[in-house]
Amino acid sequence: MRPDVAAFHDPATGTWSYVVSDLATRKAAIIDPVLDFDAKAARTTHDSAQKLVDHVRANDLDVRWLLETHAHADHLSDAQWLLEQFPGATLGIGTGIRQTQRSFAPVFEFGDDVALDGSQFGRLFEAGDRFAIGDIDAEVIAAPGHTADCVAYRIGDALFCGDTLFMPDAGTARTDFPNADAAMLYRTIQSFYALPDDTRVFVCHDYGPNGREVACETTIGAQKRDNTHLRADTSEAEYVALRQARDATLPMPALILQSLQVNLRAGALPPPSGNGVRYLRIPLDRV
Ligand SMILES: [Fe+2]
Repeated sequence: MRPDVAAFHDPATGTWSYVVSDLATRKAAIIDPVLDFDAKAARTTHDSAQKLVDHVRANDLDVRWLLETHAHADHLSDAQWLLEQFPGATLGIGTGIRQTQRSFAPVFEFGDDVALDGSQFGRLFEAGDRFAIGDIDAEVIAAPGHTADCVAYRIGDALFCGDTLFMPDAGTARTDFPNADAAMLYRTIQSFYALPDDTRVFVCHDYGPNGREVACETTIGAQKRDNTHLRADTSEAEYVALRQARDATLPMPALILQSLQVNLRAGALPPPSGNGVRYLRIPLDRV
């Protein structure tokens, strides 16, 4: 089965969000929605997510799932606002989110308002879980390596791979965050490479390297042949050495501290302080 895939690029963070639908039944899922965050003004807006809503309304879709591939460290999720727009939807993420919540709870001194059991999410997926979008079969594939909670979603012939593979000329995701592991990411990608070569692959990010247009779609066959970090014949040792050398050169993502405080709350902002203002906390010398 071949779902319809509408892709939306956020140029501020290089994130791709998707509306995936079964055109026969009009049922749909939204994957990795972005809450716009102007860091200079500390202002949030919903312009990016509104584009997803407009697409849903224009195509008369019924959103049943809001899916996160992981707790992103580069952009804030707008899942809670979208749940208000689509109250019939269930918000899902991998069960590994609990580990990520526990890892970062001491960094941000999370209080009682942040449960560390993933209960902010409507569904915690285990590897191999199945669900459906209308008549199209969907499967959760564990995808650890970049983070512990990473999952990929195979929906019909389309793989939403999260932060694992990028477009072939951009390689693979970094593996230097807490609970990340380059060898683990290698094995995750090997499991993707066992899928049929014509499986469509939709990436979580693209930054348009070397001046090319941003892109979101490739195939397993193209990745196995052309991925600049990890081709079908790349050994684990070769990949791990390359990945670790590259990770050593990367700065922290610009919004990591802001993103995690929101995304570990399932896209909710922290509760208002006594004066009605919501605050994010910036821990010094911790990340
Ligand atoms: Fe990520």
